[in-house]
Amino acid sequence: MGEILKYLEQQFYHIFNTTPDVIVKAPGRVNIIGEHTDYNHGYVLPMALEQGTYIAGKKRDDSHLNFYALNTNRQSIADLNYPSRNPIDPWMDYIMGVSYELRKSGYKLSGMDGIIVGDVPMACGLSSSASLEMAVLKLFEALGNFIIDDVESAKLGQRVENEFLGLKSGIMDQFISRCGKEGHALFLDCRSLEYELIPIDIPEHTFVIANTNCPRGLTGSKYNERVLECNDALNTLNFVFKKSGTHLRDFTLQELIEIKDKMNPISFKRAYHVLTENNRVLSCIEALKQGNIKKVGDLLNESDYSLQKDYEVTNRELEVMTDIARNIEGCKGSRMTGAGFGGCTINLVETKYVESFIHKLIDKYNNITGRNGSCIISYPSEGAKILKIFS
Ligand code: GLA
Repeated sequence: MGEILKYLEQQFYHIFNTTPDVIVKAPGRVNIIGEHTDYNHGYVLPMALEQGTYIAGKKRDDSHLNFYALNTNRQSIADLNYPSRNPIDPWMDYIMGVSYELRKSGYKLSGMDGIIVGDVPMACGLSSSASLEMAVLKLFEALGNFIIDDVESAKLGQRVENEFLGLKSGIMDQFISRCGKEGHALFLDCRSLEYELIPIDIPEHTFVIANTNCPRGLTGSKYNERVLECNDALNTLNFVFKKSGTHLRDFTLQELIEIKDKMNPISFKRAYHVLTENNRVLSCIEALKQGNIKKVGDLLNESDYSLQKDYEVTNRELEVMTDIARNIEGCKGSRMTGAGFGGCTINLVETKYVESFIHKLIDKYNNITGRNGSCIISYPSEGAKILKIFS
């Protein structure tokens, strides 16, 4: 940790010729189970990663947001008073989006100079964007001397996605990036926003994240399409049962199955995934508490089949990678994680096989797809925080 702080301080000095006021960090996340359930008011079980987005920032006297992204070597300047999208440097949209939402909520902000660096692989289903949003929010809080409640912070981040960026995503990514706890996954009820920390201490087993390194293509539009399909299923359920539910959570799997013939078959499949996935999250929590590792692995596999067959958010690379993984010694279960359409898988692997698992997985994946996969192992980590305040 000391090294990254020193690096940011040096880079800040190099670019702005002064020391920053503060350095903040917010983590990426991996979702263990509970995929595409959050915007249906269902259950999710993500954990925060050690990898995250770091920002060193200093208050300015004017309203300029002057940021430098070290990963891409790009500098971009915007004005708080003129919120707009930035097609050339889209990472700037997250900074502008957070400031826009804060100002809408009545916070008085000043401009700032900042440098950003991150080690969450981008566009891979590990929430690099939510980690940027939550780091930016922490920075505004630190420099503006105010603190926003954790749940409100996650909601604000979700509004940035839904309203400023037009992606109809749920609240999982921002919530875990803000509220993650070391050594724990977070079991979140996306309806009540109540959560329980679940210790991730599976004896002799490790979660291995594997990246297909396959660009995600069309994620935004396909994602919003799934949201609409869930909504269509909801409308039919409401119509047939003469109810006024607001989300799929308002109906049981039994009710859905009962009216299968009256529903558009695509919408039925989407809703079927969502309601069965909610049950899998609950079973997974039980299995984790009981130390039933085989059951956890089976649930990961079942979740993945449902995402392949019913929700249809996998692609060839994801399917190849999970299929290879399941056939490697020591792997108890494997599934795609995050929005899908490319990105990463999460694998539960016996710790003594982790090294050979990674080696075999990457090798076979490369033979079949011609792509270079890569793996990450991360201890469950802390949510957004201030790392250093300079006096
Ligand atoms: C993306 C969204 C989340 C969630 C997942 C799928 O990460 O940002 O809100 O819907 O996809 O589970």
